[in-house]
Amino acid sequence: MSGIASRRAAEEVVLAGEVRINGKVVESLGTQVDPEHDTVTVRGKRVAVAEHVIYIIMNKPKDYITTAKDEKDRRTVYDLLSIRERVFPIGRLDRNTTGVLLFTNDGFLATKLMHPSSEVKKEYHVSIDHSLDEAHRDKLCKGIYLEEGKTSPAEIVPIPGTKSKEIVVTIHEGRNRQVRRMFEALGYEIVHLNRISYGGLTAAGLAKGKWRFLTNQEIRSLKSLVGQSEGTPSASRAKTSRPAKRPGGQFGNDVKTGKPGKRPNGQFGKDTKTGRPGKRTGKPTGKDVKTGRPGKRDENTKHTVETKARTMRHRRSAGIGH
Ligand code: URA
Repeated sequence: MSGIASRRAAEEVVLAGEVRINGKVVESLGTQVDPEHDTVTVRGKRVAVAEHVIYIIMNKPKDYITTAKDEKDRRTVYDLLSIRERVFPIGRLDRNTTGVLLFTNDGFLATKLMHPSSEVKKEYHVSIDHSLDEAHRDKLCKGIYLEEGKTSPAEIVPIPGTKSKEIVVTIHEGRNRQVRRMFEALGYEIVHLNRISYGGLTAAGLAKGKWRFLTNQEIRSLKSLVGQSEGTPSASRAKTSRPAKRPGGQFGNDVKTGKPGKRPNGQFGKDTKTGRPGKRTGKPTGKDVKTGRPGKRDENTKHTVETKARTMRHRRSAGIGH
């Protein structure tokens, strides 16, 4: 959540003895840290959990590189971002690729979105130097061999009226320069490459070089792509409460094992007799999302309203009720 490494890679960093808490090398995984009082360093550099999680969408222009610093002093996408928080891109775009580029400091979500197993859809508008052959289209659809192995099946849809020189390509992976390499492998030169969408989010209304914060709905939709529902861990919660155990099934996977978690009985649980989703009988029993403490049950408190809204959403997504 500090943007240092993925969960798994972080374990390796710990085991390599590169992490210190208050100057002492950490020797075991699962060591607890109090972010308010402990000083954590990785390879001698202090790390901290971001206080505010932010999510940004940019319409990347040509001639900007997706890196924080460039040794050749070329323009970078960070030259376009006027924010104080340190954010990192969710996947990169080549210097000459334009379009949707997301940024965040929510390492948990970013790692999940970029992981091949999440199969997040990326849609590209590709302009090539000569018409796409039907046989080549077939090959691209089925997957072709690149240096590191076969690509997963892609959707390849030529745009009518372009003599098959403009194509919408949808892939579910995010290998380095993947689209360019797919076409180059078959003898095409890419004239222009524009990412139309990432995980369903588009840059509609954003001029080239402009960016904006994602709306809450967009953040929720990204989280839902990786089975992360509200109340699951992200850097925003890390400061105030420990990540809650996530209920499983349609509410997502266990954050530790990656397998569907057990659904607790209770307000979302199954009726123990019938095995069907049970009706909620009691008052909200959830914890306050900010403090992690049991919420007040006063009908007029914000907590109750939030809990109700959350419950309704969960019930809807679980097909309970309607
Ligand atoms: N594929 C590419 O080849 N380049 C990009 O920038 C993104 C996907």
